[in-house]
Amino acid sequence: MNDPADAEVTHVPERSPSSILMPLLDVRNLTVDYTTPEGARLRAIEDVSFTLERGQALGIVGESGCGKTTAMMALMRLLPAAGRVSGGQVLFDGDDMLELTAAEFRRRRWLDMAMVFQGAMNALNPVRTVGDQIREAIVTHLAWPRDQVERRVGELLDLVGIPPWRAVQYPHQYSGGMRQRAMIAMALACKPQLLVADEPTTALDVMIQAQIINLLDRLRRDLDLALIIVTHDLGVVAEACQQVLVMYGGQVAEYGPVEHVFTDPRHPYTERLLRAFPDIGGGRELQSIPGTPPRLSDLPSGCRFHPRCPLAVERCRSETPALRPVGRDQMAACHLA
Ligand SMILES: Nc1ncnc2c1ncn2[C@@H]1O[C@H](COP(=O)(O)OP(=O)(O)O)[C@@H](O)[C@H]1O
Ligand SMILES: [Mg+2]
Repeated sequence: MNDPADAEVTHVPERSPSSILMPLLDVRNLTVDYTTPEGARLRAIEDVSFTLERGQALGIVGESGCGKTTAMMALMRLLPAAGRVSGGQVLFDGDDMLELTAAEFRRRRWLDMAMVFQGAMNALNPVRTVGDQIREAIVTHLAWPRDQVERRVGELLDLVGIPPWRAVQYPHQYSGGMRQRAMIAMALACKPQLLVADEPTTALDVMIQAQIINLLDRLRRDLDLALIIVTHDLGVVAEACQQVLVMYGGQVAEYGPVEHVFTDPRHPYTERLLRAFPDIGGGRELQSIPGTPPRLSDLPSGCRFHPRCPLAVERCRSETPALRPVGRDQMAACHLA
């Protein structure tokens, strides 16, 4: 402590006893629509709800197009112009992030919650050093004296396992894994309590993927960081997450502790996804899921998974299943769960 700038970023609000029991993040019925250039409104995610505690990691999984990135962009209030939150709440430390004015939210984003974007490691500026880009992430948000900013750049690189002298290098002198580490360092510049990482291991080779996952897991524990890892790799979730949210067609199919959901999946979609990962799914044969996820413009009636579901009965075609408690602290949206 005794570092006034530290006090500035740690943001320890006075907590009432009840707020100590409150999850850090409480997302309720988040719903997002996109307007197409033709003026049609498409519902990309609907009624997505989950909570996250400090120091815990949530994995969000599902095939491409199921709304994972949309949900995270809505959370960070970074939806593109065509996107709009049309319902729900995002309670962070008790405050509804969606109700804050743009200026209030800008002050809190990156200080409270930060995000490593899908594919961002390829978006580093090629003509500026990595150190410069991390420095900018700090000074954009914090009015720190220069020497303190310099110290923080070194600290951040060290935190993510990059030798601080490499601050003077350019992105092309970094490997893919190091560029991803640098992106994580940037996201952590203002000591957020929540880090969202969207597909942080996609496009990296297997060994490097494991290193990035180990890094995120270490940061979670060392910094008591709440973590959301968006991925289509269930192995990543098994390694690094305590909770998992399975999304299908913009909705929550299943949600619960990883150890329960992965050993006793209650939604046929989760079960199928797990079968595509025999290492976690129990040594069964690798199987891809036949068919493709629904298009937003052409959503099936009833359960959105029913056209691909091997267990579907008549009711699944006509009636939308509600997300309801099943098994041990699990939730599944399936009539048959
Ligand atoms: N800017 C946009 N305008 C219209 N539709 C979009 C836009 N961005 C994403 N979508 C649609 O929203 C759905 C969810 O996309 P996305 O959130 O990127 O899924 P995921 O991250 O799970 O792959 C997809 O059907 C996608 O086509
Ligand atoms: Mg995505």
